[in-house]
Amino acid sequence: MTQSIEVNERTQHRPVVLSGIQPSGRLTLGNYLGAIKNWLPLSEHYDCHYMLADLHTITVRQDPVVLREHCYEFLALYIACGLDPAQNVLFVQSHVAAHAQLAWVLNCYTQMGELARMTQFKDKSAKHADNINVGLYDYPALMAADILLYQASEVPVGGDQKQHLELTRDIAERFNNLYGKVFTVPEPMIPPVGARIMGLQEPTAKMSKSDNAETNSIYLLDPVDKVVRKLRRAVTDSEAVVRAGDDKPGVTNLMSILSACTGESFAAIEARFAGQGYGPFKQAVADAVVAILEPMQARYKDIREDTAGLRRVLREGAEAARTKADATLARVHEVLGLLPQ
Ligand code: TYM
Repeated sequence: MTQSIEVNERTQHRPVVLSGIQPSGRLTLGNYLGAIKNWLPLSEHYDCHYMLADLHTITVRQDPVVLREHCYEFLALYIACGLDPAQNVLFVQSHVAAHAQLAWVLNCYTQMGELARMTQFKDKSAKHADNINVGLYDYPALMAADILLYQASEVPVGGDQKQHLELTRDIAERFNNLYGKVFTVPEPMIPPVGARIMGLQEPTAKMSKSDNAETNSIYLLDPVDKVVRKLRRAVTDSEAVVRAGDDKPGVTNLMSILSACTGESFAAIEARFAGQGYGPFKQAVADAVVAILEPMQARYKDIREDTAGLRRVLREGAEAARTKADATLARVHEVLGLLPQ
């Protein structure tokens, strides 16, 4: 597990991708199908950066011991899912000081009204009403800094991050209009299927890492027999017809999971299960999910045990990330008129 120096040399002139996940709660099938799975093929054509967005997690209170463990766990899962550290820069956000530094600058180019409109801010302030801190409000400015520091042209995320991406684009364009082309204006890269995996028991709300109801989410480290049970008990409806539609959120969600796992189209799924009810359909969804989770979990165990190897990946990742990030920050300081060091 080592991030070779070749990465920099080989990838210097390719378009850049950046994405990240907050290392809080437990990684879900939604995180995999909406984000990680779509990151895997990108290193072929892009200079890829995937971070653990640890500074974002502290907008909600975290237990320090658990947070530290989650960082190793999530990194090991990134690698077990197939992200090769020799082909992708894997790093922890707080190891690259430029994230917080650029976030401060971008604060001065972001309007209060823009932040107040963010759905995630509204949702999280409702959920954590006793701790509506400035960081929670300012979260999108830090996320914009994450992306703009690397001159990322593409940001592969699930559908729930689209609004933050739009704000990032607005901030970048505003800054560029004032100071010239300092930032690449990024495009969201949202998968056509799997961008919004919903809860199994509550299919009208998205599957979440920090759900209190155990049976609502599939976690990447759930034992596979538990995954099968959760999928068998997933909420459907009384129609007993495998068909997608707004009136069938449970079945549509299971079809999205199957389609995102296997590549099978909705039409093909509907045809395959015509007249069969939900039993065989749910079994097929479970088989498809288990086929992904089982080999991933087998790889995870060995990777997670090698904490020294994981630390090395993060050290080398942070070095590679810093080179890019510091260059952008220096340019930003220059155009603003801040003295060089
Ligand atoms: P986070 O940690 O909530 O989620 C990580 C990624 O998983 C996607 N996702 C989903 N996709 C489909 N269905 C779901 N139910 C589902 N739940 C989550 C998210 O869209 C995301 O792609 N703000 C970000 C982290 C972040 C970031 C960044 C992302 C910080 N800086 C810069 C991209 C670029 C977040 O909270 O993701």
